[in-house]
Amino acid sequence: MHHGKIKEFPEGFLWGAASAAYQVEGAWDSDGKGPSVWDIFCKQPGATFQGSNGDIAVDHYHRFREDVALMAEMGLKAYRFSVSWPRIYPAGRGVLNEAGLAFYETLIDSLLEHHIEPVLTIYHWDLPQALQDEYGGWENRRIIADFENYCVTLFRRFAGKVKYWVSLNEQNYNLTNAYLLGTHPPAVQDRKRFFAANHIAFLANAAAISAFRQYVPDGLIGPSFAYSPAYPASCHPKDMLAFENAEEFTNYWWLDTYCLGRYPQAALAHLQETGEGPDMLPGDLDLLREGLPDFIGVNYYQTLTYTDNPLDGQTIQRINTTGKKGSTPSSGVPGLYKTAPNPHLETTNWDWSIDPAGLRIGLRRLAGRYALPILITENGLGEFDRLEEGDRIRDDYRISFLKSHITACKEAMSDGVDLLGYCAWSFTDVLSWLNGYQKRYGFVYVDRDEQNARDLRRIRKDSFYWYRTVIADNGGG
Ligand code: BG6
Repeated sequence: MHHGKIKEFPEGFLWGAASAAYQVEGAWDSDGKGPSVWDIFCKQPGATFQGSNGDIAVDHYHRFREDVALMAEMGLKAYRFSVSWPRIYPAGRGVLNEAGLAFYETLIDSLLEHHIEPVLTIYHWDLPQALQDEYGGWENRRIIADFENYCVTLFRRFAGKVKYWVSLNEQNYNLTNAYLLGTHPPAVQDRKRFFAANHIAFLANAAAISAFRQYVPDGLIGPSFAYSPAYPASCHPKDMLAFENAEEFTNYWWLDTYCLGRYPQAALAHLQETGEGPDMLPGDLDLLREGLPDFIGVNYYQTLTYTDNPLDGQTIQRINTTGKKGSTPSSGVPGLYKTAPNPHLETTNWDWSIDPAGLRIGLRRLAGRYALPILITENGLGEFDRLEEGDRIRDDYRISFLKSHITACKEAMSDGVDLLGYCAWSFTDVLSWLNGYQKRYGFVYVDRDEQNARDLRRIRKDSFYWYRTVIADNGGG
């Protein structure tokens, strides 16, 4: 679709940046916080890049005032952050840790003082270890009530201050790693358990949204989804079918369930045939339909291209966690699909395709299928950055990545997509779960590496100054 005139961003558009508790806070055992599954997992040999962990991270817990001052200097309109569940309930439930709530309250107040809209993510993967130990975390329906209790605690405390809420962050990516690839805790590789854990997470998400209506009637809530829109490798009908399979199994399995309260039909039929489908109890579908979101949170980094994969096809799954370009093999599911390179797209050093048009395509697909507003909750470029003498970081590659994706947002809006805001990933550099500190995303450089936390000094990158002008010009810069 070519437009004679492209839409401008509306007044009040949420120009933001994002983070997650485990990736920035540090203070992993301070002020009454309990351990999360990541606090334990990261310390197992070989689990993360060069044994990196979030014990200190970028020390946002102690330096949040400095970080918020930088946000204000940038003119940020929104800051998306997550609350650490075990900071609020050290054992996942039961005794409440008031110091944890107070930390987030101070952060929220300080954002509001600077006219920065807080966007609160309730869950960004740091499950209390106690719940994993006690009943297997997401594999047990007991988590539904515990998660709802934790959510209601946040709703009651912050209802008057926080309007935008994200329920679960990237359930799809997190549980794929946790139960298929074995690369996130609890490091399982089992398709039956994968779909079972996802089903329980869907129910927990719906229960939380349903409670939200009662406690935060004026707020807006939705999950964030790691959205990689699918492309077919060719127009061969076999590739088209592989692409349809991939859309159902890697995207609509989550999005339909969140937004329509039901699983997509072909994928469900396949899982019933293989016996890998989730066990559904009476009332489950009613609960899913009671917990529909107000918006879709989209975390967009790349598109993926798919080709046919026969029943005896390969199944290698390996993620590039080193930044050695070209080290990611094709991956897939026999009988359904496998990934193929897209000759039309450049890739990053971590082999992620760079595809701003894919963002436009994805936004259109979601807006057309679900008729919901969309908040871009993450979009960014992970790269090696070089700190030059005189404290300069020339990240022009990041600027051009973000610029092209912001243009894609305008084009999507011109195609009729209702876009609430755009949160770049990330504000400061953060710990990348499996890639350590060398894969950087921030507008603000943090001086540390995997082995050495150094002085954790904050240094503005070139992209910091660029995004400041974008915000000041409401996307026109
Ligand atoms: C998303 C997550 O998967 O992408 C973030 O919500 C994460 O927490 C980001 O950091 C980038 O991924 P990675 O693996 O490059 O750090």
